[in-house]
Amino acid sequence: MTGQTEILAPDTAGLARAAALLTAGAQVAFPTETVYGLGADARNGAAVAGIFAAKDRPAFNPLIVHLGDANQARTLVHWTDHAEILASAFWPGPLTLVLRLRAGHGLSGLVTAGLDTVGLRVPANTTAHSLLTAFGGPVAAPSANPSGRISPTQSSHVIAGLGGRIAAVVDGGACAVGVESTIVGLDGPYPVLLRSGGVPVEALEAALGQTLAQPANTSITAPGQMASHYAPAAKVRLNAAEAREGEVLLGFGKLQCDLNLSPSGDLREAAAHLFEYLHQLDALGRPIAVSPVPEHGLGAAINDRLRRAAAPR
Ligand code: TXA
Ligand code: MG
Repeated sequence: MTGQTEILAPDTAGLARAAALLTAGAQVAFPTETVYGLGADARNGAAVAGIFAAKDRPAFNPLIVHLGDANQARTLVHWTDHAEILASAFWPGPLTLVLRLRAGHGLSGLVTAGLDTVGLRVPANTTAHSLLTAFGGPVAAPSANPSGRISPTQSSHVIAGLGGRIAAVVDGGACAVGVESTIVGLDGPYPVLLRSGGVPVEALEAALGQTLAQPANTSITAPGQMASHYAPAAKVRLNAAEAREGEVLLGFGKLQCDLNLSPSGDLREAAAHLFEYLHQLDALGRPIAVSPVPEHGLGAAINDRLRRAAAPR
């Protein structure tokens, strides 16, 4: 669509309006604890196509389906023991489980990109949960940014990237986690880590009592795996000890810099700031240097996003 994008409050009236727009087949952005999602009714092919159109997203990428509770998941997919363990431990929360679809699931083939699996997630954000409950059905939602650009963690980012191209955004403030959900594949003989994200891999492995395999082949099953996906317009240089001439410095830990992901070296705080600060520095139009970030816990997801932001394109 083109026109005015409504900005809706996360109250009863705003959520009812957002749910009605979803029911009518419109695209509505909403906050989750990870990033803002661009939602549409996952059973309505035209509505889902509107997501790809608004984002200019290559159509071979499958989308994550958001649900109000785990019971809905059991009606869509073949539930497994591993799914039960991980859903009990981490739903609602920043974890997406890829599972094999049941016959008669009713989801648009555009959501799954023709695969016989689907990524499901039950978000913890209260606004997301209220919207999903008010709507009452599965909502397909990739991050609410133009394809290949930085993910949005505030409604203002959504408006900057997609304003005029989507029906509405529910303004739920800043996203608490700030990096996308961790994606685990449960459609094979053993659990596979498809994308690092908001739930640290160490926590998943502790719950499962086993280590997570990495994907066996390098074919792109998730666009998060494309080399240059989370790309600011500016050039990005990683593991920088300091800014060079002309650069702005995105810091981590105690140091002099333009913006600091976490002066105290807290990886949770850094994840919550990551996309917001990349947006802010990108707006300055200068190359961005980034301090080293440790690889453990949420650092794995942060570094994954930073490497993609820095990848040649
Ligand atoms: O935190 C998040 O996950 C956010 C919020 C909005 O929930 N959503 C998000 O969606 O990051 P998106 O579309 O930007 O990334 C979804 C990822 C993609 O990399 C997609 O390929 C992967 O999930 N995915 C979805 N279904 C899949 C499947 N059946 N098999 C493998 N990967 C799948
Ligand atoms: Mg995305």
